[in-house]
Amino acid sequence: MFAQRLSGMRESFIREMTRLAIQHQTINLSQGFPDFGPPPEVITAAHRALDEGANQYTITWGNPALRQAIAAKMARLYGLDFDPDKHVTVTCGVTEAIAATLMSLCNPGDEVIIIEPFHEGYAPAVTFTGASPRFVALEAPDYALDLERLRAAFNQNTKAIILNTPHNPTGHVFTRAELEGVAALCDAFDVALITDEIYEFIVYDGRAHIPPATIPGLAERTVTIGGLGKTYAATGWRLGYACAPAALSTALRTVHDFTTICAAAPLQAAAVTALNLPDDYYTQLKRDYAERRALMMKILDDIGLAAQPPQGAYYVMADFSGWAFDGDDFDLARWLPQHLGVSVVPGSAFFGTPDMGTNLIRFAFAKKIETLQAAGERLRRRVQDV
Ligand SMILES: Cc1ncc(COP(=O)(O)O)c(C=O)c1O
Repeated sequence: MFAQRLSGMRESFIREMTRLAIQHQTINLSQGFPDFGPPPEVITAAHRALDEGANQYTITWGNPALRQAIAAKMARLYGLDFDPDKHVTVTCGVTEAIAATLMSLCNPGDEVIIIEPFHEGYAPAVTFTGASPRFVALEAPDYALDLERLRAAFNQNTKAIILNTPHNPTGHVFTRAELEGVAALCDAFDVALITDEIYEFIVYDGRAHIPPATIPGLAERTVTIGGLGKTYAATGWRLGYACAPAALSTALRTVHDFTTICAAAPLQAAAVTALNLPDDYYTQLKRDYAERRALMMKILDDIGLAAQPPQGAYYVMADFSGWAFDGDDFDLARWLPQHLGVSVVPGSAFFGTPDMGTNLIRFAFAKKIETLQAAGERLRRRVQDV
């Protein structure tokens, strides 16, 4: 009865973990959303937008002032030159931007390279187009990109590669050398690059986010995708964007137009205020996340889970091999909410290759300090019990 493209697919593990969290009233360190809200001036701007009548469709590419603000940010921070009318499209989250881009590029029989572990929406989005994902693993402990391994994944069917930096779930921030390696392969095989830079502002230890489109040769074949959900603690607003050269933009806009028409109009209007926040906002954001990361790492250390501090984003992949737990990552991710009142995500949910990540669980630390402290107290009980 149902379409073949759904075969082998099931509901999102991450959202299942959130449902379990609600059922067991746990501290939810599974799904990657903050337990704090957007800046107050952004909330005020949303109220104002509703009151002032931004309640009908925007033009399909997005609110002109928001596209202008996105283009201005790209120019100011990264020196990237996008025309808001030709190159910038506002979407319903990064998820839609990626799906629309893939739908505009791929045919059945094509392959799309996905670097694993990966955000769980990528593989279904590829499958929906009739193309097939091909996985290339980043491996613990440093999660660097092995360019030889990547090279082996390219072939004449490769249509695109999806690259997420800073990376969920490993926290890897791709280096210039890695991105230059990707650029050379995209050029050699004439492949499009689809980026996911939703964590562009969440980097640690003075690291800088490098947008792949700034690497020589990549701008003309890259769809640069970003989102507002993480940077402004507004994941439920569903706002993302895609910036790309004219031909790529025109193609993805066609899919966007006929699937969602536009993102929520009042929230697009309010997002202009978010994008115009002063630099201090981003400095403080980094400081706050560094504090949360330090606390998360301390908790993991206290309870004997091995993990590398992430270089960016707000997740940690922790290895529970040192625990005498009788089960795999799914068993542990179901056991933790019931017995200790803390929710996490099983590591293998982020891999397409069977049996990878079964020794890992992912913690999301986009939470208030007091939430993380409370989670720490609950988790430490486990250590006392052992
Ligand atoms: C790497 C990555 N991409 C995309 C998303 C989803 O983005 P959006 O909510 O804008 O659709 C997430 C959410 O956790 C993510 O971690």
